[in-house]
Order: sequence, then C-alpha cells, then structure tokens
Amino acid sequence: MDFPFEPYRIKVVEKIQRVSREERLRLLTEAGHNVFKVPSTAIYVDLLTDSGTGAMSDLQWAALMTGDEAYACSRSFADFESTIRDIFGYRHVIPTHQGRAAEGLLFAVAVKPGQVVPNNIHFDTTRANVEHVGGIALDCIDDAGLDPALEAPFKGDMSLKKLAHAFEKYGVARIPFVMLTITNNSGGGQPVSMANAKAVSAFCRERGVPLIFDACRFAENAWFIQQREPGYRETAIKDICREMFALGDGCTMSAKKDALVNIGGFLCLNDDTWAQGATNLLILREGFPTYGGLAGRDLAAVAQGLREVLDPDYLAYRIGQVARLGTRLDEHGVPFVRPTGGHAVYLDASRMLPHLPQSQFPAQVVTAALYLIGGVRAVEIGSLMFEHRDPDTGKLVPPAMELVRLAVPRRVYTHTQLDYVASVCAEVMALGERLRGLEITWEPPTLRHFTAKLRPIGGGPLLREA
Ligand code: F0G
Repeated sequence: MDFPFEPYRIKVVEKIQRVSREERLRLLTEAGHNVFKVPSTAIYVDLLTDSGTGAMSDLQWAALMTGDEAYACSRSFADFESTIRDIFGYRHVIPTHQGRAAEGLLFAVAVKPGQVVPNNIHFDTTRANVEHVGGIALDCIDDAGLDPALEAPFKGDMSLKKLAHAFEKYGVARIPFVMLTITNNSGGGQPVSMANAKAVSAFCRERGVPLIFDACRFAENAWFIQQREPGYRETAIKDICREMFALGDGCTMSAKKDALVNIGGFLCLNDDTWAQGATNLLILREGFPTYGGLAGRDLAAVAQGLREVLDPDYLAYRIGQVARLGTRLDEHGVPFVRPTGGHAVYLDASRMLPHLPQSQFPAQVVTAALYLIGGVRAVEIGSLMFEHRDPDTGKLVPPAMELVRLAVPRRVYTHTQLDYVASVCAEVMALGERLRGLEITWEPPTLRHFTAKLRPIGGGPLLREA
C-alpha cells in the first residue's frame, strides 16, 4: 500500500465556498498582495499554517465538555501536567495561551540585552521575542539544511562547528542557553536527528549551558527518527520523545501543532529559578499558574491531543499525506525543498520564477499568484519574512532561500484537495515571466510579513496579459 491511509473517519464537515477569479483579484489587490489580509471565507484550500487549524477528535471534543473550570488546581490541569511530564519529563510545567507566550516568558527571565541565543533556525516569533528583550538570535543550521535540492534525512541538524564558533566569538557568559527547533520549521520542516541532539546536548553540558527545545512538532520529528535513523525502527514514538527531551533542560511548546488543538501552549523547565521567574510573569500576563491563558477545557483537550499524536498510525498518515503532496508536485515538475517536511512542503520560489531577483520578493509573488489562480492560501518564507540587519555591519541581509510554505493542517483536507493544490502550483509556475515582481508600499517595524502592503513593480496587475 503506497498511499497514506487515514486512521479516522469523518464525523462533522464544514462547508467551504469557492469565489470567482475576479473576486479573488479584487480581494488580493485590496489586501496589498498580502494573503494574511484575505478573509478566510474567500479561500478554497487554506495552507497558511498548520498552527491551530487542525481538526480535533471526538475524544478531544468530549474532553472540552468534561473540562474542570476551577480557577486553581483543577483536575484538567492535573491531567495536563501529568501527561506533559510523562512525555517531556521536565520538572516545571507552565501553561500558556500559545507558543510565543512561552517564549516571551522564558526570554524575559533568561535573556539579558546583548546576550546571544543560538538555534538551528529561529522561527520568526522566536527571533522577534529574543530581539524584543535586546538579545541576538543566531541561526546555526548545518549547511546541508540550506541546500533546497539536497536529499538528506536530517536537514534540521545544527552545525556543531557554527555553534562552537558562536561560543568562541561571544563567550560562554553571553550565551544563556542554546535552542533546538524540532522539526526545523523555517528550514523546510526538516527533522533533527537524535545523534545531532546528543552532540549539541553534550556540547552544552560541557560548558554548563542549558539546552531548550522548541518542541512544536516534536512527534513529527520523532517519527522521522523512527523511520530514518539507524537503531530506532523498533523504538516506540513516546520512548524516542523521552530520549530526546532528556538531552535538554526544558522546552517551549505551541500546542497548536503537535498537541492537536486550536489554542494552547506551555513552557517546561528544570531550573527552579527560571521557572519561578516565569511563573511570576505568567500571573501578571496570562493567569494563575494552573491555567495560564487557557480555560480548563483547553487544558483537557491538550492532554488528550498529546496522547493521540503519539499514535504511529496517525503519524504515518500525517507525514505520508505531506509526502504525497510532494510526489504530485514532482509529477508536475514544481521544485520544492527536498525531502518534504513533516508538516509542510516548501516550494522553491527562486526556481519557480527565476526571472525575479530576491529584491522583488519572488516567494511573495508565488504566494499571491497561488491565491489569484486557485484560491489557495500559502505563506511566504523568504525576503519579506526574513530579511534582517546584520548585527555587526548593520547591512540588510536577504535569507538564504526564497520559499513558499504549503502547511498542511492536521486531519483537515483530503488527498483530492491536495492534488488540486499541486495542479495550481504547476499553473502558477507555467505563468513564468507574466508574473511581475512586488515592492513594499508600507511596512511595520517588526514581523512585517503579517501586515506589510505590496504592489506590482511598474504598475498594472500582478499577472501581465498573455
Ligand atoms: N516555534 C515554531 C517552530 C513555530 O513554528 C511557531 C509557530 C512558534 C514557535 C510559535 O507558536 O504560534 O503558538 O505562538 N508557528 C506557526 C506557523 C505560527 O505557522 O508555523 P505560536
């Protein structure tokens, strides 16, 4: 059997509308060619993110009904805490309303201005949260992870050489902790191997520096280890997770990914002082320590989701569905980051539209065109999102890759809908030089990709007449 079999049947469905091409052109222009501003009711297949967009199971919906809404020490928190301890193994479990709130708490207590946080690749909110407290977010991805055409099993691995260089350059006193993002979202949803996590952990421990996981897609990462890393084929997913987290000293987590819920997150720490500091801030910003920014029912749904995500049948279907989208794109000759990631396929916009230089936002052009042509919403992971100033030279540095992420929500779309997406990608690529580059007309000071407005260069519409 070479197709990913859904380990569920569908109990509830939600109608989606298809709007006309004319209407899409109007909406896209109004949105400043930024699909974050297009109403979801005008989107046919929404692959903007896999975050908080999944379908909950019958047992999770049931957990919502039985959630305990006590302000303090609810039964739902006890379930949440013990489920998380069982998988992640850390001493302190701090609930938050989503991942970036956990990051915000950690960085507020642990990062001082001028300090440096190395990561394989920081996700955009992680980078922004480090910078918000005056820190420097440093990416130390292995070079293999920057080559979109290379077929390799663990392209999320951190470069020990780059990490060592960072320690030499800044000194251990300026590095409060090291982060490892599993899977590496900004570098193609690629997994980190256990061997690499062990090496990074040993490096950190030798220097007395904590290692913190950005654990959003930890179960997907564990699946890749089980399938690809020698010696793990017979190891249960949960045991792989435990082995991985035992290498670190804590984690930040967006439950909107691998806890299969629409909202939620947590911060786990072993260090008592950091945990106390984070809890004090939690009470100020989010809520009492046994609910964070969540309702009791949300905590209950997270606990149930964490139990479900470890199911190997679910993970085989989940990652198989994403891989299948890659196979369809291959059949159409559309280039993407190899191999497909756990939660997404990352189109290589520079190769899809080679006539556009990075300064004209080729990945944003592909993103806008996917919506115009097929009502498909994707997200740009290129210059609009990641162009940044070099901390030493002050010069603008474009990112290494111009990618468009097709993030697949969990348990939501059918294979047919994803086949349709692949054919829309092919249609966009075939438009070639008819697609104009974009320029920014307005941008905010941080995280500009969410709200920036753009227009086609030279006036006229995004798509030139044939
Ligand atoms: N870290 C990683 C690796 C992420 O992918 C995200 C979110 C976060 C942290 C922040 O979590 O959204 O719950 O605050 N990624 C989403 C995405 C938004 O579309 O990839 P959050």
